[in-house]
Amino acid sequence: MTTRALVITSSILGNQGQSIALAEHFSARAVERDGLEVTNRDLVADELPHLGLAELGSWQVPAAERTVEQRELAGRSDALIAELRDHDVLVLAVPLYNLGIPSQLKAWFDRVLRAGETFRYTEQGPQGLVEGKRAVILATRGGQYAGTPLDSQTPHLKSMLGLIGITEVDVVYAEGLAMGEGHRDAALKEARQAIDGLVESL
Ligand SMILES: Cc1cc2nc3c(=O)[nH]c(=O)nc-3n(C[C@H](O)[C@H](O)[C@H](O)COP(=O)(O)O)c2cc1C
Repeated sequence: MTTRALVITSSILGNQGQSIALAEHFSARAVERDGLEVTNRDLVADELPHLGLAELGSWQVPAAERTVEQRELAGRSDALIAELRDHDVLVLAVPLYNLGIPSQLKAWFDRVLRAGETFRYTEQGPQGLVEGKRAVILATRGGQYAGTPLDSQTPHLKSMLGLIGITEVDVVYAEGLAMGEGHRDAALKEARQAIDGLVESL
């Protein structure tokens, strides 16, 4: 059986960025492994606008009653949700920007976390509707924050994934990338080794 991985990158540094290098390492290892297919989505090359009222409103209109513009606007979120559903593993390569996620990635989550589609509100609270998926976060940072209160990024990502039902999440950190060459090289080596192990487990 084939396992399908959706690899999402969001670094404004493109190929000079470390998160994209780690995403490429994941893909290279996946190619060597039978039965693991990769789809790439680059949220910087293919940028989404901020979510606005017209697009949000288009989701509230039943599909058969949408205007041409509403169909186009709702289609953006529909396509991204369909792409997510079509894969087994979500790989998020995420640089730390100003202690948060890149706005390009937030724009993707704003389309994918959609009430009535990927989660629903119940009397017991929200219930995720995206079942049977795993996620891997490749987190690159200039400094070191993992496990400290300043790492608001990883809990935020896990909360958003958890809302739609993705609760099996592995995080690979490459931290201290701006803390000298020795530190950077060791962190990236360790991250690549962790990715190797994860690819074998998929
Ligand atoms: C706009 C911007 C904001 C950043 N903010 C932080 C930050 O708050 N904390 C940190 O440790 N590193 C920060 N960095 C450094 C990046 O996290 C680091 O360069 C990391 O490698 C980025 O991933 P990338 O190489 O894939 O782009 C920032 C970098 C940029 C470009």
